[in-house]
Formats: sequence, C-alpha cells, structure tokens
Amino acid sequence: MTVDQSNLSWSKPASDRLEWLRTRYPADHQRALILPVLHMAQREFGWVSPAVIDFVAKSIPVPTIQVEEVATFYTMYNKVPVGRWHLQVCHNISCSLMGAEIVIEHIEGKLGIKRGQTTADGEFTLVGAECLGSCGTAPMMQVNDHYHENLSLADVDRLLKELRDTPDLPDDEANVAHGPGSGPSRMLPRDGEAFTAGAGVVMPGHAAGGH
Ligand code: FES
Repeated sequence: MTVDQSNLSWSKPASDRLEWLRTRYPADHQRALILPVLHMAQREFGWVSPAVIDFVAKSIPVPTIQVEEVATFYTMYNKVPVGRWHLQVCHNISCSLMGAEIVIEHIEGKLGIKRGQTTADGEFTLVGAECLGSCGTAPMMQVNDHYHENLSLADVDRLLKELRDTPDLPDDEANVAHGPGSGPSRMLPRDGEAFTAGAGVVMPGHAAGGH
C-alpha cells in the first residue's frame, strides 16, 4: 500500500476509533494508547515509518521517543514497507521440525523472491519469523493479521492463489467480516479458515501424517 508519508491524516473510521480508544484508558495514562494506535497506523499507512511514529505521537499525544521505543521493540510493527500480503513464516524450532524451511523454499520458488524480499508487483513480502506462539499447529505462517496453521504445500499453493485474487476491502467491511484488527487491504475471504486444516508438510523420507 502506497501512502503519501509527508501528509498523514487519519481516515474517518480510524479517527473515530482513536476517540473511542481514548475512553478505554485513564486520562492520565494516555501512553497506554501507543500499542493500539500503532496497530491502527500500520493498517492505515502500510508501515511504521519515522513520519508515522511522529504522527502517532502527536495524535495521542505523547513524546515521539516513547512511540519510537515501542515501535522498534516489537517485530509486529513493520519498519520498512511491505507488500499487500506480508507472509511471515515461523522458522523457530517446532515449525522447523515440521518443515518450515521446506515451506519457505517452496514460497520462494512460487514467488521468485528470497526471504526478506518483496515481489516486483508489490503483492507479497516474504520473511522468516521467530516463534509466533502457535507451536502446536506447526508449520504455520502469519499473513498480515491472520494465522494459517498445519500448513501443507498444497495449502500454501491455494493460499497464495486466494490472496492474489482477494481484492482490497474497506476497513468497515473488513472488520465486520473478520473482526477488529483486520484492517483495509489485509483480508482473507470468509472461507480463509479452510487453510487451517492442512495435514502438515511431508518431510523428506517420511510418510504424510507420520509425525
Ligand atoms: S515454533 Fe513456530 S509457532 Fe512456535
């Protein structure tokens, strides 16, 4: 998503949500707004640039350094631009044992990019991620705000195709369909849950379902 970072402003739904968020925290603890407002900013502007950090700080308001501290601590905030679909494949221990490297190499081959890169059309960014807390359903990846678990290579193929075919949805529509935190341009269709039912990657020398 390309947004003019030199002239940032909230959309009406985001502006309304910010005012609602203010009511959820004590007036003298507005610093607690940093996490949810950074999430909102990432959905609005695509990534958390220095200009976005400054904008978030002014919106709350808190000192810019406090927002910068939070944004740089958590990996869930993108400090560089990412594609419309941000594929974060967990490559920590459980997922590695269940074939994460095979999943990553498969995606690299399908998209013609290496991890850390974005496709030329801006559709996909592929990265390896540390444990995303879904070890019991390895291998898994996070696509924007959504988890896809027990991935087989066939699941990955279907998912990539479905993501490519998924149009951007307005924020309101997306939130109704997928719940708060879904955001614009970051949606799977309703039947995206089907991708959580894979049989797992078949490791070389092992039969399917043998883990
Ligand atoms: S090791 Fe992949 S989710 Fe924990």
